[in-house]
Amino acid sequence: MQTGNGEGRHGFEMTQFLPTRRTLVTGALAGVATAAIASLNGANAQSGVRRARYGAAVRADALAADAAYAAALAARCRLIVPEGSLKWSDLRPSATEFRFTDADIIAAFADRHRIDLRGHTLAWYGAMPAWTEAIASRAEAERTLVHHIETVVSRYAGRIVSWDVVNEAVPEKPATVSDLRPFAWTRWLGADYIAIAFRAAAAADPNARLVLNEYDVEFVGARFAARRAALLHIARNLVERGVPIHAIGLQGHLLADREIDRDGLQTFLREVRVLGLDVLVTELDVIDASLPGAIEVRDARVAECARSFLNTVAEVTPPSAILTWGISDRYTWVPMYFTRSDALPNRPLPLDAQMRPKPFMAVLEQFSRMAS
Ligand code: XIL
Repeated sequence: MQTGNGEGRHGFEMTQFLPTRRTLVTGALAGVATAAIASLNGANAQSGVRRARYGAAVRADALAADAAYAAALAARCRLIVPEGSLKWSDLRPSATEFRFTDADIIAAFADRHRIDLRGHTLAWYGAMPAWTEAIASRAEAERTLVHHIETVVSRYAGRIVSWDVVNEAVPEKPATVSDLRPFAWTRWLGADYIAIAFRAAAAADPNARLVLNEYDVEFVGARFAARRAALLHIARNLVERGVPIHAIGLQGHLLADREIDRDGLQTFLREVRVLGLDVLVTELDVIDASLPGAIEVRDARVAECARSFLNTVAEVTPPSAILTWGISDRYTWVPMYFTRSDALPNRPLPLDAQMRPKPFMAVLEQFSRMAS
């Protein structure tokens, strides 16, 4: 199990830290390396704070068609991740075909602007092409999964710095800590699919950082606590078996009408650090469907949600990367599932639909390093 943080192109600037009492006490009590950081209670992060690299999810079609969008990404991101182009549903039209056109467009953009690239995702129930339903044995399932990962990861070896190897392995509402979300790979491989995927990714690119990515682990409530416990169970099992895993990805799709579970999330994060794993914020946005319609009020609340979450995480360990799931309200997934009763457009991201920065962007600038 390779561990540590700060190495690779996900690395962050190591500068002097300004420990807070809370951080020192909790760090000492938890017996984990205390990632002391300056208090970020609203103040701009001082130069002495280890700050993440900022990035965003990118749509290939918009990148090609929308110059303002491409310019905003190039100006602000040190890291980008294809929103869909590296998912099975986009890559694999059939059992014998790989379609890399869109992923290559995004990789070329990253190369042109000297931006790092993340990969999302090698195993996810949410993007399985219909032909995978015809898989009819354990051997065929393992062969299909490993071949996919070998082909895709080796194609971008040295360019993709980290992969969401397994995404959303935990069911919506886990009944037990070992519950896994059922789909093709669990049907034929059970829980083994997770270790199989991580091992195949590590074999295809030994330098890529390998991430277990999950949502709905941020809030107060029994369901969220159960999801944190199930995610930790998977991570601990992988680490104890020496499976190559480097980090936990917190998606960070923040429900504005939910309270961040400071104690629950920080306890979880301290356990993650005890396992020697790094932490990334991989899909940050704020689901504003329940917030007031007035733009100034809503944008301020969205920024406050993001600050509260990032503060909570950074007090235990500064994330090695912070990515928003899109950069502009012009292109967001949120209305697919969280439309507003007043039918106003959602405003979940740091730039508005005209690529103008909102208070959310100022929060990101406090916690992360933008493109220079
Ligand atoms: C979403 C995309 O943003 C949408 O465009 C697509 O239609 C469905 O998937 N968690 C994830 C992402 O890990 O892959 C999902 O992305 C959003 C939820």
